[in-house]
Amino acid sequence: MSIFEQLTQLQKGAEEKIAAAVSKEELEGLWTQFLGRKGGELTAILRSVKGLDPQERPLVGKVANEVKGAIEGLIAKRQELLYQANLEKRLSSEQLDVTLPGRWQEPGRAHILSQTLGRIKEIFKGLGYSVMAGPEIETDYYNFEALNIPANHPSREMWDSFFLRPGLLMRSHTSPNQVRVMERQDPPVRVVCPGKCYRRDAVDATHFWEFHQVEGLLVDERVTFADLKGTLELFAKAMFGERRRTRFNPSYFPFTEPSAEVMVDCFVCEGKGCRVCKNSGWIEIMGAGMVHPRVLQGVGYDSERYSGFAFGMGVERIAMLTYAIDDIRLFYEDDLRFLRQF
Ligand code: PHE
Repeated sequence: MSIFEQLTQLQKGAEEKIAAAVSKEELEGLWTQFLGRKGGELTAILRSVKGLDPQERPLVGKVANEVKGAIEGLIAKRQELLYQANLEKRLSSEQLDVTLPGRWQEPGRAHILSQTLGRIKEIFKGLGYSVMAGPEIETDYYNFEALNIPANHPSREMWDSFFLRPGLLMRSHTSPNQVRVMERQDPPVRVVCPGKCYRRDAVDATHFWEFHQVEGLLVDERVTFADLKGTLELFAKAMFGERRRTRFNPSYFPFTEPSAEVMVDCFVCEGKGCRVCKNSGWIEIMGAGMVHPRVLQGVGYDSERYSGFAFGMGVERIAMLTYAIDDIRLFYEDDLRFLRQF
């Protein structure tokens, strides 16, 4: 076979294979197979040029170049064709309707009780109070005794408690923290203690066996009931609005003397009377009072020199009043339809 016939045959073979190639990689392989500098078929044929008649050489070179050009052209063309076909295919299969609304990613949020607690804490932090926490399992001593509530005292009925064993219970209020804080530090004391409390109450729209309280305690020299009133009035305005007014009704707690029930004028009806305030125009928001001297003495404070006030509020109650929520159980049912509203 003459060298020209070999070249023609090479070109024909290449044409067939290129036409059958279906990928870029395959085409690259064919280029190497036919035109590769080292093991390529064209190179192999041209190697034999050396043994040729010198007069034939320029012609062979020329034809070889034409063959090379033709093969390269075919590869490029096929490549372009495959690319277009592939693009076509992707465009039709990956069609995307950019006018469709995106998929909504719902961000999480703090539970409404956490939000309410957060606001309460911020207000008191702004007044220079620090925030502390105590244990949810308490001893009889901290929950009752040290708060001037001796065993068999009738006032224990105010806190129907879950006992784990005699002397140990799920705390029924956050007031034990008053004692815990004072045992650890000397006056002045200025602290709020938020936390969960537990009571063996019958469950209804306003009672649940677990709930949250925020305890407040301030002890220093010359602290008076006026300081308590001023502080809680400021809190009520910050929490429920500048226009709010507060009222202190006499009440009873064994660990405060005198004791008060703190009322705020109804922010739903502006005091006119409605369902939330049960037509009284006033809403009770917490219990408070001047720390009983016996409680101060119990932690070794000089009750002649120091006086203080304490208050305790229910976080659920505050949230229910703020957002007109009429059932405490909603906070604990994890119903997203309820929780998403806040
Ligand atoms: N611990 C009381 C309660 O649970 C509230 C309170 C706290 C009252 C501090 C006075 C002072 O009802």
